[in-house]
Amino acid sequence: MKKILVLSFLATSLMFANNAEQLVKDNCSACHMLSKPTQAQKGSMKAPPMMGVMFHLKETLKDEQKVKTFLVDYVQNPSKEKAICMPRKIQRFGLMPSLKGVLTEAQLTEVADYLYKNFPPKGFTHNKKGKAKNSPFLITGKMPHLTKMVKKNWDNPTLALTQAQKEKLIQVRKATMISVTKLKKEILPLEKEIAKATMSGETPANLKAKVDKLSSLKAAATMTHIQCIHDTKNILNDEQLTFLLSKQKKMRQAKSKL
Ligand code: HEC
Repeated sequence: MKKILVLSFLATSLMFANNAEQLVKDNCSACHMLSKPTQAQKGSMKAPPMMGVMFHLKETLKDEQKVKTFLVDYVQNPSKEKAICMPRKIQRFGLMPSLKGVLTEAQLTEVADYLYKNFPPKGFTHNKKGKAKNSPFLITGKMPHLTKMVKKNWDNPTLALTQAQKEKLIQVRKATMISVTKLKKEILPLEKEIAKATMSGETPANLKAKVDKLSSLKAAATMTHIQCIHDTKNILNDEQLTFLLSKQKKMRQAKSKL
């Protein structure tokens, strides 16, 4: 009898885990990727990947219960005001559609438990550090990061971006991203290839053509960066530009004090 109880308990808990995993696959994965997106997949994502979402929720809300409560609520009643992570994601992807009535409250609780336990996966690193290391640009850290400052102050009433400005800014950002992503796809493998060949005894003379190619790709990425700053400056008026640059200065000062 005892054995049967234990077995049936095991079976139910396994079933629950499978069930929650299945619920996530069936109801979330069409939009939120459950694995780490490749560079190629990034362009066609419909929502931020689940590991990123969960990373931000945990980082912001800290408490396990708060994360789960937030999840159960957000899935049923998503709104711009409630959204926590990645401020620009709503501009990029649109607001998440409500799944109210698609999943019951009990199913959502299971989903929240499962996501809390399994996302982000072990070994997940937030890509901020990787970004500097994998920069495709020739100049890093010296030019104003205008798009980042625009992003941070998107709805700031002092910046007061008009709808027309926002639309233009999104277009500049899109064009920049498409072009940089394409170049990155060539630059990063080429860097690896050169590094590997160097270590396996290839002569410098034989690597010269590859290095030249790399330098022209990086020059192209740098020009895209410069073009992006130029276009962004043209969309903003003088006050907006001064405001963003002073904000950036303050941010950099605050950072260097740390
Ligand atoms: C039809 C597409 C779609 C489906 C299906 C979907 N989501 Fe989303 N989800 C989005 C988009 C787009 C965003 C980003 C915009 C936003 O936050 O509303 C998002 C954002 C989120 C956020 C982030 C909220 C925040 O704090 O910023 C959570 C949490 C979330 N989804 C959970 C889920 C879960 C759990 C499921 C499955 C039960 C699910 N989503 C299914 C499209 C979807």
